[in-house]
Amino acid sequence: MRMIKKIVIAISGASGSIYPKRLLDALVQTPHTVAIVMSEHARQIWNEELESWPIEKYDRPVYGIKDFSVPFVSGSNAWDACVVIPASMGMIGRIAHGYSDDAIARTADVQLKERKQLILMPRETPYNLIHIENMKLLTLAGALILPASPSFYSKPKTLEEAVDTVIARVLDHLGVENNLRKRWSDE
Ligand SMILES: Cc1cc2nc3c(=O)[nH]c(=O)nc-3n(C[C@H](O)[C@H](O)[C@H](O)COP(=O)(O)O)c2cc1C
Repeated sequence: MRMIKKIVIAISGASGSIYPKRLLDALVQTPHTVAIVMSEHARQIWNEELESWPIEKYDRPVYGIKDFSVPFVSGSNAWDACVVIPASMGMIGRIAHGYSDDAIARTADVQLKERKQLILMPRETPYNLIHIENMKLLTLAGALILPASPSFYSKPKTLEEAVDTVIARVLDHLGVENNLRKRWSDE
């Protein structure tokens, strides 16, 4: 029997709005429950990078980062998984140091304290030592750092195909079946 999961898609303000877009494109075709939390910077970058693709198109709840009425900010209602995609280095720093001062940082905090799944997708290059130390701390605390690093052995021909090589790894970790990309050594 397939388990229906409750998954928070948390979008912070790094470049790369196409990553949450492709994840949502895939997840809305599944029976899993999805809610979206978006920072103000993330919405600006989404509008800039994706222009005519309003996030409301997904017909899933979209919460603002200051909205603490969302259920999953409480340990009493932690969801199965939270993917912070992309995870700005500012957000990674706030999560790593327990700020919990907005709905994304608090949800991530809840996921860690309740031993639920937390996937963080940084999109930054190069890294400074603060970034690396924060990601190390989060790894030790139980988060998975899954960088926005496409692979190329499948010879992607479009930007979407390249992005999907990363989204497939997110879905694999969420336990969501997918055929988004060719697996190594498959015919
Ligand atoms: C044009 C622009 C692009 C940015 N791109 C990135 C990025 O790719 N990665 C990153 O970690 N931060 C990036 N930043 C910095 C974040 O937007 C900034 O730290 C912001 O405070 C993050 O806010 P949030 O985490 O609340 O969304 C960028 C900022 C700007 C203005």
